[in-house]
Amino acid sequence: CICITIKNYYWGHTDNHGAKKSLGHVTVVIVGGTGDLARKYLWQGFFQLYADQVGKGHTFSFYGGALSTTEKGTPLLFDILKELACPAELSVERCALVKDQFLHLSKYHQLKTTEDYENLSQQIKQQLGQEGIIEAGRLFYLSVPAFAYADIAEKINNTCRPPSEAWLRVVLEKPFGHNLYSAQALDKKLSGQLKEEEMYRIDHYLGKQVVSKILPFRKENKKLLDPIWNKHHIERIEIVLKETLDAKGRIQFYDQYGVIRDVLQNHLTEVMTLMLMNLPANLSNSEEILQNKLNFLASLQHVDNSNAVVGQYQAYNGEVQEELNKTKDYFSLTPTFAGVVIHVDNAQYEGIPIFMTSGKALDERVSYARVLFKSNVFCVQDPNNVQCKSKQIIFYLGHGTLQYPAILLSKNLFKPELVSSGDWKEVTEYKDVNVLGLPLSDYYIQSPVTPREAYCELISHVFFGRKDSFISAEGLLASWEFWTPLLEGLSRVFPRVYPGGVDNGNLLNFQLKGHQVAFSHEAVVNVINPGAEDNFQVMQGKYRSSEMVSAWAQELVERLASDLLLAAEEAIREEGQFHLALSGGSSPVALLRALALNLYTFPWRNTHIWQVDERCVPHTESGSNFRSIHDLLLQHIRIPYFNIHPMPVHLTQRLCVEEDGGPTLYEKEIKKHVNGSSFHYILLGVGQDGHTASLFQDTKLENDEENLVILTESPNKPHQRMSLTFTAINRARRVGVLIMGKSKHELVSQLSRIKGESSKYPITKVQPKSGTLIWYIDYDALLG
Ligand code: BG6
Repeated sequence: CICITIKNYYWGHTDNHGAKKSLGHVTVVIVGGTGDLARKYLWQGFFQLYADQVGKGHTFSFYGGALSTTEKGTPLLFDILKELACPAELSVERCALVKDQFLHLSKYHQLKTTEDYENLSQQIKQQLGQEGIIEAGRLFYLSVPAFAYADIAEKINNTCRPPSEAWLRVVLEKPFGHNLYSAQALDKKLSGQLKEEEMYRIDHYLGKQVVSKILPFRKENKKLLDPIWNKHHIERIEIVLKETLDAKGRIQFYDQYGVIRDVLQNHLTEVMTLMLMNLPANLSNSEEILQNKLNFLASLQHVDNSNAVVGQYQAYNGEVQEELNKTKDYFSLTPTFAGVVIHVDNAQYEGIPIFMTSGKALDERVSYARVLFKSNVFCVQDPNNVQCKSKQIIFYLGHGTLQYPAILLSKNLFKPELVSSGDWKEVTEYKDVNVLGLPLSDYYIQSPVTPREAYCELISHVFFGRKDSFISAEGLLASWEFWTPLLEGLSRVFPRVYPGGVDNGNLLNFQLKGHQVAFSHEAVVNVINPGAEDNFQVMQGKYRSSEMVSAWAQELVERLASDLLLAAEEAIREEGQFHLALSGGSSPVALLRALALNLYTFPWRNTHIWQVDERCVPHTESGSNFRSIHDLLLQHIRIPYFNIHPMPVHLTQRLCVEEDGGPTLYEKEIKKHVNGSSFHYILLGVGQDGHTASLFQDTKLENDEENLVILTESPNKPHQRMSLTFTAINRARRVGVLIMGKSKHELVSQLSRIKGESSKYPITKVQPKSGTLIWYIDYDALLG
């Protein structure tokens, strides 16, 4: 009986006068207490907590709760508890005693209905009342599928709150949502029942011993790290979780999530954040840590499909068909492997590629994060000398060739301080193995004295209310905000199929191309048929009596980028400069990216960038066309500042006001730089309503004959615009019109039927006087 046992183990501390002092009673409830996670880790974690705390002033009782009746649940729980292993620091005799106490204090309780929860709460109150014990707190660990969280939180809130002096802590496991929107919805539901300080969202990576020492390591070694922890010294960063296991048996869960949601969005993002966030002045200030984490996440550059490669192990689809009862023609696009490159948009780290990768069914199980430094040494002789070897810092989380968690530093960097003198040790015995390219003897190594399971660590952190080891609502949403656009983009991408294990060979290797990544090798076979996209042909023809180039989107954009390069080279050969005017809107996005990739070959030094049109918003806002040209292209290339010509929409602290004369100013600038105001290349898009630049059906064009730039009104928000006129456009030497996507198919068909000009479709007024017009139309827009 709990009461008797509590009595027996109640007294812990002795106060100054020799009297026993209680710190109060703690009730632990594992909801889902007979499930897999509870069996593998949670009960062991709470047993360790009990063993650590018994006799120190708190008393405990433990409940395993689940949907089954008490008759069914009790033996299940007993089966789990009797298998509990002894904590390493306890002698056999002491462990037997402590385990016996723990078994007495633990009990099954059916937790299905609101009455069950009420009943549990009554039991706790009654027992403590009878014993006259004060209550310190209640800890609910929800080890149940996430869809049940809101309901259980409501039951806890309505029936199981402890008296106001005691704390309530509710531990939740991922997944916390599926994307930004579902995470927001879940957060809203939970925050209606529980206060933020009551919620402990677990990411078990934060409980890994090495992960929890990343910040202390950076702090301890700050003096030596500061000069090299930046873009001038770091070549690349790798954050890796490779697994040999597959997803078999958990497809119900896995197929809805995939590798990015399962581990990149949470575990690996946390590790990256700890490595690169600003060091907090005070490592125990949770608020400062959280703020610095948020600042870091906000400084990440947007990632999309071009920054990622995805794969799926070959047997996966069969497992899906079997476990989800699908027919043989069902294909899942869920990735089981992903490689992503991330860039940080701040002065300290800009340009450093952060490779983040994880996969099931790979050749080995290992997880680590490493910082690889640039080499500035030229070894004329003796290449095996330690000074000539690679310099790296590795946060090794476990498994792999090393087999234990450790922090490793190449000896040619510096000898680090120990992260924690009591429970970490320096390793000086070197096994004969290589870790990430270097023999162990080339590293300074430190590692925890006693290995502890992540769950054990975190359970003790919940008990001590150490919130910084958990995920805050804000941190969670910031991470989803970063990953959601990529996840949306990838939902239509066919993953590369890989055989699994060592047979993967080099199939999954991927490499950087500018700021993007691609698989390094062509896939030999792709079991999932990518369909028509296999046809890479570029087709040339006529459209509205002008030249037309057509292909699938990617090839089309590459072709346009290479045509632009030819035009630039020709103009520079003849006139020393290339004047290029770019439109806003969605069509040029892919092109700007392709151009950013051509950063080594495109003659940016002699290229001037102009705008075809602009929205009347400050250039710093995300709706600004200049802002997207900047973000997608300008910031990645080396172009002289004076070659960049944004439209002056923001003058004298206001936006697009006639009297400020923005159009006249821009016109003057064009006349000053561009020979005969005749741009070498103008790139246009077309809206679904047929508008081009910011010239709409209702745009008044009375003075169009004389003006090169005007203010216009768009039917869509933001309404006010600045735009080149048809006069300016039709003076260009070349005009390219880029039309992409199925949504433009209707328009493409209509335009093809119209002969000459139509006032309904402003694009039809684009007719270069002596220059050429080329249409670039992708197959989706052309064929529908
Ligand atoms: C879990 C994922 O969160 O982390 C699993 O759901 C993954 O798919 C596991 O295998 C990896 O954790 P660890 O501790 O084994 O690296």
